[in-house]
Amino acid sequence: MERELFMRKKVTIVGAGNVGATAAHWIAAKELADVVLIDVVEGVPQGKGLDLLEAMPIEKRDSYIVGTQDYADTANSDVVVMTAGSPRKPGMSRDDLLNINYQIMKAVIGKVVQYSPNCILIIVSNPLDAMAQAAYKISGFPRERVIGMAGVLDSARFRTFIAQELKVSVENVTAFVLGGHGDTMVPLPRYSTVAGIPITELMDAATVERLVQRTRDGGAEIVKYLKTGSAYYAPSAAATEMVEAILKDKKKILPCAAYLQGEYGISGLYVGVPCKLGAKGLEQIIEIKLTPDEKAALDKSAAAVKELVAVIGV
Ligand SMILES: NC(=O)c1ccc[n+]([C@@H]2O[C@H](COP(=O)([O-])OP(=O)(O)OC[C@H]3O[C@@H](n4cnc5c(N)ncnc54)[C@H](O)[C@@H]3O)[C@@H](O)[C@H]2O)c1
Repeated sequence: MERELFMRKKVTIVGAGNVGATAAHWIAAKELADVVLIDVVEGVPQGKGLDLLEAMPIEKRDSYIVGTQDYADTANSDVVVMTAGSPRKPGMSRDDLLNINYQIMKAVIGKVVQYSPNCILIIVSNPLDAMAQAAYKISGFPRERVIGMAGVLDSARFRTFIAQELKVSVENVTAFVLGGHGDTMVPLPRYSTVAGIPITELMDAATVERLVQRTRDGGAEIVKYLKTGSAYYAPSAAATEMVEAILKDKKKILPCAAYLQGEYGISGLYVGVPCKLGAKGLEQIIEIKLTPDEKAALDKSAAAVKELVAVIGV
């Protein structure tokens, strides 16, 4: 890439599969940065990258997109989005992907760091919290520069279901999800609102619980339909929102997986919490007071992450 000709931001996406290529699409369509797609499968990132590049005149965007197998092309990326890995198949949990994707993480992160020592890493590969922790340990980066994507997706799913249920604009709906990306995630209804009104004021408890459960099962619902592969439009849009918050230094509060060092009473573990994202990456973790039930649910979720990271020893 003729980097010196341009002053645009550079985003590398590792893994040119469903999530990676679709993230490239969203990023280029928003003209957030130039994009390098890298994958082990020869030709696929090149083909998808060129195809996307050829859409730019129609979209009136000047993002440059290129596909490659060579990490030298990723040099000096501002943000690297890690989507390499195996997706879930029907009947598989995210945790089944643990060992397969940890091996991939070990193969990739060192090379990313070698060529982009100052980048901010956004991890998408599953099982999310454990892979974020693996990337944090392998990279040697400070926690500010290794952030996991899960909560933006989980809360977008919750927002979708709330908007559908109440027949209101998705723009009116905010949602709050804590915890690991898995069956133990902790949606917080009292902090989920429609035009500022907590949803607990607008729906009965049974309806809230039904939407919470659908949110927890949101990934599996899509896997069941697709049969081969898992969700990718919303996951890639979620990663793109994080990329945008960082590249534009928006100081946006988003639920992300972050390495906790005492926040929420948890230490040495990646768990989903409200994070402020800006040019430095993770700029602040927002702590809120939890009810005893919410704290118990968060601790249970953290314990599930802890079990996984113990298996791979990170
Ligand atoms: N965090 C989340 O909320 C979330 C949501 C959706 C998917 N995911 C995860 O994201 C990952 C990707 O999902 P997908 O649907 O795009 O899968 P996919 O199979 O479509 O794409 C994965 C790509 O990674 C590539 N790859 C494998 N090993 C590689 C390596 N060493 N270097 C570079 N590329 C490599 C594959 O060739 C493939 O193209 C999966 O682990 C999935 O579980 C996470």
